[in-house]
Amino acid sequence: MCVEAWKKKQKAQIIKNRKIAKNVYEMDLQVGDMVREVEPGQFINLYCRSEARLLPRPISVCETDKKQGIIKIVYGVLGKGTKEFSTYEAGETIEILGPLGSGYQISQEAGHSILVGGGLGVPPLVELAQQLEGTIEVYLGFRTEPFLIQEFQKYTDQVYIATDDGSYGKKGTVLDLLKENAPFSKNTTIYSCGPRPMLKNVALWAGDQGLPIQVSLEERMACGVGACVGCVCKIQNQDTEEWEYRRVCKDGPVFNGGEVVWDEES
Ligand SMILES: Cc1cc2nc3c(=O)[nH]c(=O)nc-3n(C[C@H](O)[C@H](O)[C@H](O)COP(=O)(O)OP(=O)(O)OC[C@H]3O[C@@H](n4cnc5c(N)ncnc54)[C@H](O)[C@@H]3O)c2cc1C
Ligand code: FES
Repeated sequence: MCVEAWKKKQKAQIIKNRKIAKNVYEMDLQVGDMVREVEPGQFINLYCRSEARLLPRPISVCETDKKQGIIKIVYGVLGKGTKEFSTYEAGETIEILGPLGSGYQISQEAGHSILVGGGLGVPPLVELAQQLEGTIEVYLGFRTEPFLIQEFQKYTDQVYIATDDGSYGKKGTVLDLLKENAPFSKNTTIYSCGPRPMLKNVALWAGDQGLPIQVSLEERMACGVGACVGCVCKIQNQDTEEWEYRRVCKDGPVFNGGEVVWDEES
């Protein structure tokens, strides 16, 4: 049985729950000692109050305040679960489980880090930025309205923004921005999170540049703790050169971008 399955659900008090962009909310949760276990790229499972929605909703940890015991999450309102979360108010409680999954591997040597995020994949990169040392550049892509920019400016040296419609920053994609600023030094590591097509394009480009890249994948989840094998993706085994199924919720969500089998559905 996986370690996560032994974790206990806990009640967290909602400190803040407010809209920060169209259909995007930030929620601060008082989680106590659990905050000290969080590593960048990990997520928590949030449980709805409605009994019609039994499955937990996985949401990445966006930022931690380890002194105050607070976790910030940022979520898009997509379906019934996240719609329910958006109605919660400060002072209420919510059941959560976490931190879950395997996050970003941070190199001990302070070098050059490039963080590449797209849309609702941007949030976990804030906590990563807070934990990284050395020079940090951030490349963010949004459809139209950006969010979390001030948080990145707190922790990093340079933030570049692209929007699909050009309403903010450069009109285009994060890959366009990366190509404009390339080449990067050999001590650069790329960390990425966002929609699968973006991750694929950035990972293939990083491979061409000879740069290591870690990507955070998203799959629909059920148990969220490694028990149901409902969230698998295909990962290349470096020794045998054959692919194997890995669980996004337990073995990931962060994987070596050079090992992900991109062209497959799962
Ligand atoms: C590791 C991980 C981290 C995530 N982090 C964030 C984040 O920081 N911010 C954010 O806005 N979204 C994040 N998501 C996506 C988020 O979990 C879904 O948007 C959310 O579960 C949708 O729930 P819903 O009830 O609104 O939608 P519904 O479609 O009603 O959900 C139905 C079921 O499908 C599952 N589901 C639906 N979409 C997804 C999805 N994309 N990924 C996994 N399960 C899904 C739900 O858990 C639920 O069981 C993350 C997903 C994963 C896997
Ligand atoms: S969601 Fe059950 S194993 Fe990943």
